[in-house]
Amino acid sequence: MTEKLWGGRFQKTAEEWVDEFGASIGFDRELVLEDLEGSTAHVKMLGKCGILTQEETDAILGGLEKLKEQAKADELEYSVELEDIHLNLEKKLTDDIGPVGGKLHTGRSRNDQVATDMHLYLKERTKEIIALTEDFQKAILEQAEAHVETLAPGYTHLQRAQPVSFAHHLMAYFWMLERDKGRFTDSLKRVDLSPLGAGALAGTTFPIDRHYSAELLGFAGVYENSMDAVSDRDFIVEFLSASSLLMAHLSRLAEEIILWSSQEFGFIELDDAFSTGSSIMPQKKNPDMAELIRGKTGRVYGNLIGLLTTLKGLPLAYNKDMQEDKEGMFDTVKTVTGSLRIFAGMIRTMTVNADVMEQEVSKDFSNATELADYLAAKGMPFREAHEVTGKLVFTCIRKGCVLKDLSLSDMQEESTLIEEDIYDVLAPVAAVRRRNSYGGTGFDQVRVQIGKAKELLGEA
Ligand code: ARG
Repeated sequence: MTEKLWGGRFQKTAEEWVDEFGASIGFDRELVLEDLEGSTAHVKMLGKCGILTQEETDAILGGLEKLKEQAKADELEYSVELEDIHLNLEKKLTDDIGPVGGKLHTGRSRNDQVATDMHLYLKERTKEIIALTEDFQKAILEQAEAHVETLAPGYTHLQRAQPVSFAHHLMAYFWMLERDKGRFTDSLKRVDLSPLGAGALAGTTFPIDRHYSAELLGFAGVYENSMDAVSDRDFIVEFLSASSLLMAHLSRLAEEIILWSSQEFGFIELDDAFSTGSSIMPQKKNPDMAELIRGKTGRVYGNLIGLLTTLKGLPLAYNKDMQEDKEGMFDTVKTVTGSLRIFAGMIRTMTVNADVMEQEVSKDFSNATELADYLAAKGMPFREAHEVTGKLVFTCIRKGCVLKDLSLSDMQEESTLIEEDIYDVLAPVAAVRRRNSYGGTGFDQVRVQIGKAKELLGEA
């Protein structure tokens, strides 16, 4: 006879390597506490509905409690032959408390059981990720507050464009993360539903109370359709999708950190605690953590596309294909959680070389727009002002200088509208300060923005 919990109709057992191929215990052991929690709620519900006697209910609850303690102490051992976490735990329960343990699975299937575990798991992890995202936002805010008046080159096409407040640049990421939080928070609405009691696919003949078990598990509601309940993995896709976008944002900042900390830029220096050295080149200090986060973005995208592809064309209801939903999800939780923690630390501890950035903006052409705007403000059509300024930039390139180095008479050769006050206008600090349109980089606007951000985080 087979050891399998479903072995009744089988005449022979699969060979070990076949079992191994089908088993998920190697990874779904991660769901041990969620599985025990789901079972606990299920048994309480069975007891309340009179499907199990008080004595049976108490015996099973006692057994589950003991398993929970062992799980927390990492004392449980699992067998591949028992396929997955659900069957492993049920077997252990029955071994511990006797045949009454077999009553746990009344009115339930592994299909609604595993879906319940996943909902419980993802709900908590999503909340953790939201909290970590917020901590990262705080780290950004701290640096931003310290650097409102720090000038930095602003780029388009990675070419110097216009000078900006360094805080403004950093705060752009704050708002991306705010949207990420919004997506995770919104996804919680759909994670917060209980599939428990959907059975294999069609519900059950037992007079169960799905709302009661959902309430015990802290779910806000239940799935309305048992077939949907056991075959839905949208909530995981949503999680992976929100994670992918978050990683896209992290990888963009990672790329900037890598550039900024290069000798060519020299805008920041990462703390030693978040850098590594080279095994051969003694001078090296590498931004490994930022590179790794940029790299890990790929696996998160892969997990998203992997699950979407797994789900494509699956008939209702449960199919074993769906066992493939787990590793990508666990991996994403780990990757996103780790990346957020590292990033918060990296940003908090980095040194900003304000003087380097300020020097840089004083010796480039990122103030050319100031000159064009100056002429336009004096009535010259902007197109013409653009042309005049372009010619003066060209003069500078020929002479090997920047706009502020031209004499007034040099400038007046192109337009007599240019007067002595142009030198104040060309100062990078003026260029930034005067960009006071709503949401612009002007210092006052950046302060408004930081104020709003703090309000959002409840810090104002
Ligand atoms: N290990 C399975 C999974 O992760 C659990 C559900 C199995 N259900 C079934 N009918 N074989 O999807």
